[in-house]
Amino acid sequence: MELTFSNSISSTLCISPRAAFSGCGCRVTSIRCINESQRENQMIVSITGATGFIGKRLVRRLHADNHQVRVLTRSRNNARAIFPAKEFPGVVIADESEWKDYIQGSTAVVNLAGMPISTRWSPEIKKEIKQSRIKVTSKVVQLINNTSSEIRPKVLISATAVGYYGTSETQVFDEKSPSGSDYLAEVCREWEASALKVNKDVRLALIRIGVVLGKDGGALAKMIPIFMMFAGGPLGSGKQWFSWIHVDDLVNLIYEALSNPSYKGVINATAPNPVRMGEMCEHLGSVIGRPSWLPVPDIALKAVLGEGASVVLEGQKVLPTKAQELGFPFKYRYVKDALKSIMTTQ
Ligand SMILES: NC(=O)c1ccc[n+]([C@@H]2O[C@H](COP(=O)([O-])OP(=O)(O)OC[C@H]3O[C@@H](n4cnc5c(N)ncnc54)[C@H](OP(=O)(O)O)[C@@H]3O)[C@@H](O)[C@H]2O)c1
Repeated sequence: MELTFSNSISSTLCISPRAAFSGCGCRVTSIRCINESQRENQMIVSITGATGFIGKRLVRRLHADNHQVRVLTRSRNNARAIFPAKEFPGVVIADESEWKDYIQGSTAVVNLAGMPISTRWSPEIKKEIKQSRIKVTSKVVQLINNTSSEIRPKVLISATAVGYYGTSETQVFDEKSPSGSDYLAEVCREWEASALKVNKDVRLALIRIGVVLGKDGGALAKMIPIFMMFAGGPLGSGKQWFSWIHVDDLVNLIYEALSNPSYKGVINATAPNPVRMGEMCEHLGSVIGRPSWLPVPDIALKAVLGEGASVVLEGQKVLPTKAQELGFPFKYRYVKDALKSIMTTQ
């Protein structure tokens, strides 16, 4: 048994609803102490895709603020390795057969699961990219809908992407813009349609995520080595739009959406100042100390990222109109500051 004590004498003991099991099969009961006011605001959040680039940061944030986190995963062992019980006491790991039990009684569900898109796109992989998102979203929605109202989560935050709008070098997109006609737009439409089937009493926020910047994952982690190899020039023509968001801002936005009832419907998760790729690479070059003059050929990117390179070779200018109307306080509004912070502090 592991005991983790924090806070004052007036603390209340909270024990995970079901005992978690450690990798060795031993019962691990985590007890955390929280005070009365924390207890009132405590959320119970079930998260799919919690083991990914964004999910890991979200779990860490929620856990640090004493919320209860339930990791809904396909692989208990992998999730336990990412969230060891010692470092994450109280975080429940649930494999697919247990998702139902844990979605019941959760305050909210965050749905981030999906097969990575930065790969070679064979017809089979394209099918899997789409199906993985629709399958998990439909399952989560069905489990929420089948739960009786007293124990049904009140909120579903479901990921989607700015790929919804298609690509353009000239248009500007916000939440009211129509969907595009390419493959990623189709994926996003069907992904969102699965989430929209959730019970109408559940507050649904569809977060259309831009390119998430962080050192330990996403496009930037893949771009940096290619960029270094080619003396740091623009990727592709450099004219394509790059609608980015710092991972901390994205996590803050999801966090806010969990508890703020005004966060509903489609919300673009992109920084207020998207840039063209040439500008993005200039800043990246200056931050990592590489001159930015020799363009990285499309072929080199495609060799590493397959057709998934389209995410950085073709882009869209997307504005976070709704988040700004809601007064969301972006910490990183300019890509230069975001890159500086990522390359120096993470
Ligand atoms: N990162 C970005 O720049 C970005 C931009 C726009 C949209 N998004 C969307 O935001 C979500 C989270 O992004 P991320 O970068 O954190 O993703 P990620 O690191 O690739 O993690 C996604 C998670 O989804 C689960 N998963 C992977 N393959 C799957 C499959 N075939 N079927 C079902 N589940 C699968 C995995 O969790 P388990 O193994 O634990 O089940 C994995 O940890 C994704 O849906 C992504 O499309 C991300």
